[in-house]
Amino acid sequence: MAASSELIARDVLAYLQAHERKSLLRFITCGSVDDGKSTLIGRLLYESKMIFDDQLTALEQDSKKVGTRGGELDFALLVDGLAAEREQGITIDVAYRFFATERRKFIVADTPGHEQYTRNMVTGASTAELAVILIDARRGVLTQTRRHSFLVRLLGISRVVLAVNKMDLVDYARERFEAIVADYRVFAARIGLTDITAIPLSAVHGDNVVARSARTAWYQGPALLEHLEGVEVDAALSRAPFRLPVQWVNRPNADFRGFAGQIVSGVVRPGDRVRVLPSGREAHVARIVTADGDLEAAVAGQSVTLTLGSETDVSRGDVLAAGDAPPQVASQFEATLVWLHEEPMLQGRSYLMKAGTRTAQATISPLKHKVNVNTLEHAAAEKLELNDIGVCELELDRAIAFEPYAENRALGGFILIDRLSNATVGAGLINFALRRSQNVHWQALDVDKGRRAQLKGQQACVLWLTGLSGAGKSTIANLIEKKLAAQGRHTYLLDGDNVRHGLNKDLGFTAQDRVENIRRVAEVSRLMVDAGLIVLVSFISPFRSERRMARELFAAGEFLEVFVDTPLAEAERRDVKGLYKKARRGELKNFTGIDSPYETPENPEIRIDTTSLSAEAAADEVIARLAAVRITGA
Ligand code: ADX
Repeated sequence: MAASSELIARDVLAYLQAHERKSLLRFITCGSVDDGKSTLIGRLLYESKMIFDDQLTALEQDSKKVGTRGGELDFALLVDGLAAEREQGITIDVAYRFFATERRKFIVADTPGHEQYTRNMVTGASTAELAVILIDARRGVLTQTRRHSFLVRLLGISRVVLAVNKMDLVDYARERFEAIVADYRVFAARIGLTDITAIPLSAVHGDNVVARSARTAWYQGPALLEHLEGVEVDAALSRAPFRLPVQWVNRPNADFRGFAGQIVSGVVRPGDRVRVLPSGREAHVARIVTADGDLEAAVAGQSVTLTLGSETDVSRGDVLAAGDAPPQVASQFEATLVWLHEEPMLQGRSYLMKAGTRTAQATISPLKHKVNVNTLEHAAAEKLELNDIGVCELELDRAIAFEPYAENRALGGFILIDRLSNATVGAGLINFALRRSQNVHWQALDVDKGRRAQLKGQQACVLWLTGLSGAGKSTIANLIEKKLAAQGRHTYLLDGDNVRHGLNKDLGFTAQDRVENIRRVAEVSRLMVDAGLIVLVSFISPFRSERRMARELFAAGEFLEVFVDTPLAEAERRDVKGLYKKARRGELKNFTGIDSPYETPENPEIRIDTTSLSAEAAADEVIARLAAVRITGA
């Protein structure tokens, strides 16, 4: 690196120390390549001397060869060259570039502006303190500008630089600049963005990028880099109450028990009273341990290990917080979701929620509305597709400590993960806890499942038959129930067609409705198992996710998945209800196996091959298995 390289060579420690004392500003740039984003970032890197000498030589050559600037340095080539590197590593969509000036260090998140920009922006913006939103002076405020601004605001960035670029192409006209800024401010005010610094620029010619330009003598404000160097970095987090989400419990031997993690807000000192959440236990901080020795105090941003004065139960995912100002604890929230996956979000499906070190299972119930980020209008919706933004209610399987995202990104932000594919499918921001969860408590009852089942002389369980329509589920389930009844067992059969005449008559066959169909029948079978019954469920239940959700409602050994395995061709050949013919004629939409998927069970407890086994024999096999696992044993 041209200038800094001398100091690095001479005294690397001095160089590092000088760097350490500088504050760090993380910012994000939003705009498309057409707006001159690459050129702008390239120039910032170049002017701050963060380009390696060999890169500079290559840039000079490339600029002469393929540059668009008649042999002058074409900075876009520099950044696009770096972009080509990242295209090889397909997964990295956001490029983080580091540069530094005499006064400050910077990390700029450069998010490509193609159609997946929402996902990239969420990633890049979630840690940024400021956003540079680029506008082409000839084109003014575009839909894209509004979308970027909305996301920036949503993700908690309140400082914006409106970089009105390509001023050279509008003759550095003050009126043009002012009209664009006025236009932008109207929109920005609607989304609550008020801290806006507008700068007229020409990234290509370097006007107002690093130094103020004589060509915009009418402009009194700072150049871009000057502004980035001077803007105040948020100190609010250090002033907020103390919070530390526990990343791991450090227990090298019986004498030491430390709770390690990064302080996300506030200050902590030995002697402070802290509360452990969600349990609510209290303790005093004994020591603040770091690799470099104990500390007298630690602040937001530092990673430390705390030991507590008394033996206190703390585990990974708990939050240690100021005793007199703890965060809230809840299990139901209103949240804003940004959907990041091609597979749409389905209401009622259960996802894995990761909120920092805290994890829970989360179900969306229901989606309240979608936000049109162009018009800011709310529209009713049943699902969220890739890049959609919506507001939903979220139900967790346990209570977690949290703060609204607007107050604390670390305790209010989360991601949703698909539990089968492990893909990150959504990003979310907690808005507030729902009241309804705070006033409903679990009522302890004296007669329990075991007692009820005992009176019936059996063990309760659910036999979950899954398979294509016409696979033979209902026939086999009916025979199983007959045989159990003959043995004097207490049973109940929940059949898809029948339940859809009553409890679920409001549901159709979209993916959404099937998820809800299975959720309800799983809950009903849980109640019936609680009542001590042997429950037979005969539903296509085509999705692995929901079968798994059903399984998780039960204790180990209580849920037996029975895959009634009939190949599609065979079910279609039998076509008992004539539905396959209808579906093939196009008269029945979303038919399982035809234009709606069936996800084959991977590890069913029992698999029945109906092409080689009669219904009678299949029922006998299931009965034998029940006896073998002692459900109907003596
Ligand atoms: S599930 O997919 O939501 O589990 P369920 O078992 O309740 O389905 O209902 C399936 C029954 O509804 C089928 O056996 C068939 O008789 C009838 N049906 C009507 N339309 C469809 C369809 N589009 N796809 C599958 N089954 C359908």
